[in-house]
Amino acid sequence: MNSEKTLTILGIESSCDDSAAAIVRHRPGAAPEILASVVRGQAELHADFGGVVPEIAARAHAEKLDHCVEEALTTASLGFGDLDAIAVTAGPGLIGGVLSGVMLAKGMAAGAGLPLIGVNHLAGHALTPRLTDQVPFPYLILLVSGGHCQFLLVRGAEDFTRLGGTIDDAPGEAFDKTARILGLPQPGGPAVEREAASGDPRAFDLPRPLLDRPGCDLSFSGLKTAVLRARDRIVADHGGLPKGARADICASFQAAVGDVLAQKSRRALEIYLEEAPREPIFSVAGGVAANSAIRARLEAVAREAGARFLAPPLALCTDNAAMIAWAGIERFRLGRRDDLALQARPRWPLDESRPGMLGGGKKGAKA
Ligand code: KG4
Ligand code: ZN
Repeated sequence: MNSEKTLTILGIESSCDDSAAAIVRHRPGAAPEILASVVRGQAELHADFGGVVPEIAARAHAEKLDHCVEEALTTASLGFGDLDAIAVTAGPGLIGGVLSGVMLAKGMAAGAGLPLIGVNHLAGHALTPRLTDQVPFPYLILLVSGGHCQFLLVRGAEDFTRLGGTIDDAPGEAFDKTARILGLPQPGGPAVEREAASGDPRAFDLPRPLLDRPGCDLSFSGLKTAVLRARDRIVADHGGLPKGARADICASFQAAVGDVLAQKSRRALEIYLEEAPREPIFSVAGGVAANSAIRARLEAVAREAGARFLAPPLALCTDNAAMIAWAGIERFRLGRRDDLALQARPRWPLDESRPGMLGGGKKGAKA
């Protein structure tokens, strides 16, 4: 019955520094429709602190989330009575923010008599290619953002195998730190990419961490230290950082990240292709996938391997609630329901058999 019914689900996301609410409708056999997607960022609240401050984030979510829900319902011209369920990110993430979302969702579900569905934030990212392009299982996805970096083999809406991931920083964090080291604005990714356009990627011989080791794990913290050393050397030699040298460091850094991601993607694709998927697909998600040089590298790797490359629109690559509503629809169709005992979880690896090795980073606890 649930597999045939048209479903309209409200999604809520508050695991990091974006408060978001969205409504997605899905009629089986048709493409899902995003009826509304509201995202309120908090960048300005954290700008002075060099990272997301958990207490400030939690308070802001508590203040903004119900407005996001109201706006989503108004945009979609719907009321609670038109919904089939409420889906909410229940982890992983900054616990105060996740709690704000879970508490709100519990209150609304209890008040409106609607089923509640807890969603893993990473599952939201990992299932996005099915929201945007209705891709079949199994597919390979690389989540690559300021908070995440992992390869996932997605065999079903609740069947994820983690092939590897970062053992320290996420690449977005490395871009942000590189920008800070070089006196460029935040978020660092777009600023570094702009500078890199006029630089020489061979000017600095930066490390390619873990490339010499088998497997799909990655590391980016050594790269950041190498950028710091390169800058210090130039400043010592020139008494400052000439613009040309800054562009060269950015280009060399971006090339190193691109090399590491491309090589590890090749390995992940090899493992994925052993499953002989009928329609091989390599997808990316996350803010770093916005980088056109890196995107081109990954696209080339997919092409070489005979896989279709898929990059969802940026608004659905970065944190949003449409992906949470969609993951909720997928879970609902599998008969999953939560109740008022739903727990907020700071850590929640998608693949419990292979949890990541990350601790708390700039963007909080990661799976
Ligand atoms: O997915 P996202 O919006 O948020 C989370 O991290 O969850 O990703 C943000 C990250 C930031 O670290 C930002 O510097 C990076 O993505 N980023 C980029 C680019 N645009 C955003 N990194 C490299 N090149 C870009 N063009
Ligand atoms: Zn995310």
